[in-house]
Amino acid sequence: MDRAVKRDRRQAFTPLNTTPFWSTAAEPHRFPRLDRDLQVEIVVVGAGITGLTTAYLLVLGGHSVAVFDRGRVAERDSGHTSAHLTMVSDRRLSSLVRSWGRDRARSVWDAGLTAIERIESIVRAEQIDCDFQYVPGYLHAVDGDAERDGGPKAFEDEASLAIDLGFDAAFVNDMPFIGGPAAAFERQGRLHVSRYLSGLARAIVERGGRIFEHSEIEGAEAKPRSVRVNGKTVSCDRVVLATHMPIVGLASKSDTARLQSKLAPYTSYVVAGRIGKGEVPDALFWDTADPYHYCRIQPASSHDVMIFGGEDHKTGQASHTAGCLKRLEETAAGLVPGIDITHRWSGQVIETPDGLPYIGEITPCQFTATGFSGNGLTFGTLSGMMAVDWIEGKANEWRSLFDPGRRVTSGGAWIYLKENADYPLYRVRDWLQEKARSVDAVQPGEGQILEYRGTKAAAFRDDQGVLSILSAACTHMGCLVAWNDTERTWDCPCHGSRFDTNGRVLAGPATEPLSPLDQSE
Ligand code: FES
Repeated sequence: MDRAVKRDRRQAFTPLNTTPFWSTAAEPHRFPRLDRDLQVEIVVVGAGITGLTTAYLLVLGGHSVAVFDRGRVAERDSGHTSAHLTMVSDRRLSSLVRSWGRDRARSVWDAGLTAIERIESIVRAEQIDCDFQYVPGYLHAVDGDAERDGGPKAFEDEASLAIDLGFDAAFVNDMPFIGGPAAAFERQGRLHVSRYLSGLARAIVERGGRIFEHSEIEGAEAKPRSVRVNGKTVSCDRVVLATHMPIVGLASKSDTARLQSKLAPYTSYVVAGRIGKGEVPDALFWDTADPYHYCRIQPASSHDVMIFGGEDHKTGQASHTAGCLKRLEETAAGLVPGIDITHRWSGQVIETPDGLPYIGEITPCQFTATGFSGNGLTFGTLSGMMAVDWIEGKANEWRSLFDPGRRVTSGGAWIYLKENADYPLYRVRDWLQEKARSVDAVQPGEGQILEYRGTKAAAFRDDQGVLSILSAACTHMGCLVAWNDTERTWDCPCHGSRFDTNGRVLAGPATEPLSPLDQSE
């Protein structure tokens, strides 16, 4: 990496702190790096909600399990959520019924309710201090103005359908906080996600499970079955991929690429700020904007914290990500004028063509779970429950519904084509642009894609004037990465891989870093 670094004396400026609210409020977790060979029954890849729930339920059942994460426990996607616990899917219930029929639509929402109840039972059994609370959820019009959403009847119909399918729902003519009509749903939930995951990790280790941080999967073998981690061999019977975006593992590269191409990663932004106690009711809120906004509170001793998100866009496809956070702050201040914003961050959600997650066996002895859309904590928890049933050979009522090999519906096929139309475009887009700037034009704190010695480069100059120049070709399938000015990362617009300014992988499906380019004179 040394050759990829040069210094100059440009003026530094303060970068935006994008640490999630959960990170600063939670106790740090510490787990070892794998440094020796190991034998376990089940390898779990990824220490977020899916991986930790899977491992917890497995150790409860007497299985031997080891969890590996390339970074720290709950550091990435699960640590960047807004921690809504809900059965209410991003795709409206009426839309699910149109695509899948009443029984399967009911089953999708049942999955969310079941997951919330499982989280509650784990919190109680393990006495995890994470502020879990059942709260109502409200689907409401933007600014309470139902007329732009087809009038109050749209919300009345959504509530009636939910009641008809057996859910505890109601139509509310004048909802609290926002005002105007809404569909209200009981027994949704909220918690402090880092404290919950920290409690899960503690419970896993107390029951004999193993967790390894800074331990990345480097490859896998089907016979004898094993994975390579930090140059060591971990022998196992089965592998559970809980990596948000699936990696190859035991599957073939072509099968993995086929699954990855069905997934569309979106970046969603979140702000958190201090507000007065009781200023916002203890509930979940989603408006009907596109992309929609979501809101909840996290109680503190002397005040509440409002957590407010939205402004989603396809990862790597926004030209000025700081503007997304600015608009979000303005919208939050419009709802609660005195809010004191303390945290700003972004997370990634993964969409599928038909709106349902992919959870199940993807190749013999390997289980994967992805495509949770905006329901990461509930579908992640459900995935852990389904993984254990798969390992123990038990029937599971969601197996065929969420089967990764299912056929997409006709509407889903259209969305699939629309989402993947980007891929060839982003492979060539920047190569077709005018010959770009020189590296000298890159300012402190700025990243640019430019042509450098006959190749496309991702150039970043840090606040001290140190320049890093990396290949701009994503190591997954060759798309050109784009600069994310809020997080200071290189994000791939094709399948959502993310890299830090040194080229290290922050989020897959890429597993290899961006290569440094030679800067010698
Ligand atoms: Fe697939 Fe970059 S994530 S090409």
